[in-house]
Amino acid sequence: MAKIYATMRSIASYVPKNCVSNTDFEKILDTSDEWITKRTGIKTRYFADNNEDASALGVKAAEVAIKRAGIQVSDIDLVICATLSPDYLGMPSNACLISSRLGIENKPSFDITTACSGFIYLLSIAKSFIESNVYKHILIVGAEKISSILDFSDRSTCVLFGDGAGAAVISATTNKNERIIDVNIGANGKYNDFLMTPRCLGSKLNFSNGFNVAQVDKTHSYLTMKGNETFKIAVKTLANDVKEILSKNNINIKDVSYFIPHQANLRIINAVGDMIEIEPSKVVITVHKYGNTSAASIPMAIDDIYKNGKLKKGDLLLLDAFGGGLTWGSSLLYFNGE
Ligand code: ACO
Repeated sequence: MAKIYATMRSIASYVPKNCVSNTDFEKILDTSDEWITKRTGIKTRYFADNNEDASALGVKAAEVAIKRAGIQVSDIDLVICATLSPDYLGMPSNACLISSRLGIENKPSFDITTACSGFIYLLSIAKSFIESNVYKHILIVGAEKISSILDFSDRSTCVLFGDGAGAAVISATTNKNERIIDVNIGANGKYNDFLMTPRCLGSKLNFSNGFNVAQVDKTHSYLTMKGNETFKIAVKTLANDVKEILSKNNINIKDVSYFIPHQANLRIINAVGDMIEIEPSKVVITVHKYGNTSAASIPMAIDDIYKNGKLKKGDLLLLDAFGGGLTWGSSLLYFNGE
């Protein structure tokens, strides 16, 4: 039997309507457009409406991804969603909510929590299921309503993030030239306190302490970040990860069509770009428009060049992400969307 490879058949994204500029933040915080632009490269981000949750954003992207893949909803064998801002804490998963809203029934669906590295982890899982011949079509979704977990009195975090969703259909193929070549994933829990969403304290809320509502303190309900420490590790890890995946697969950086890094901070993207010596015109940048949309950031960036007509079938993509956990990951793949 011919060898089965995994391939990215489509890409899609959804950006919510409410555009929030840096000057909008100047009205509620001690901050400035100049500081945010200089330190992060971010100019705007988009926030979802009150009645629009992360799964609703994911459904919008997923519908387009399925259509662009040229398959039916009923062809999907598995739905996986990466999110750090799920509709509900614990259950039901956003993947189950997305499946149900798409009309998918009786197909496995689950979420993963690997923060900004979510999309790369999704690729790794999908590739394994497809290459081991378990499934033929897998819907992967990165969907975030990070505005729901931001502390809007903390200027060092709330200006950095945005809402949005990205989705892709990963399918089986026997054509080696369409394949996801490789996916590298990694994590180091030693740095678990660099990025946290200690919302409701989770299982830290012990019965032995009594049912004390005061424990669910406001300050423990939002995203927190040690920005400076994260910055330093991010640059080093992202650059090393890229060098490793390229050398492991004997691919020269010059052969890469587009480098699509996680969109957290323009300074991180530029520093990594310099370290891996990629031609600047090949680096995809969307952080100025969307801010950091965590698990949605990479698929939104891929879709950005797809929608602009720059991304073509057969282009070699190099993806690279870093996020809370700490987690990281990279991937090399031939884009196979029409
Ligand atoms: N406006 C004005 N001043 C600010 C703001 C703001 N919005 N935010 C912070 N400052 C101030 C600080 O209070 C500090 O003031 P001080 O010197 O008087 O104490 C000063 O600016 C410098 O603060 P730093 O935190 O040192 O600024 P830095 O240059 O490191 O930039 C940033 C901060 C943008 C957060 C940067 O560290 C960063 O991008 N970190 C990495 C983020 C990342 O990669 N995250 C991983 C993925 S995210 C995920 O997984 C969910």
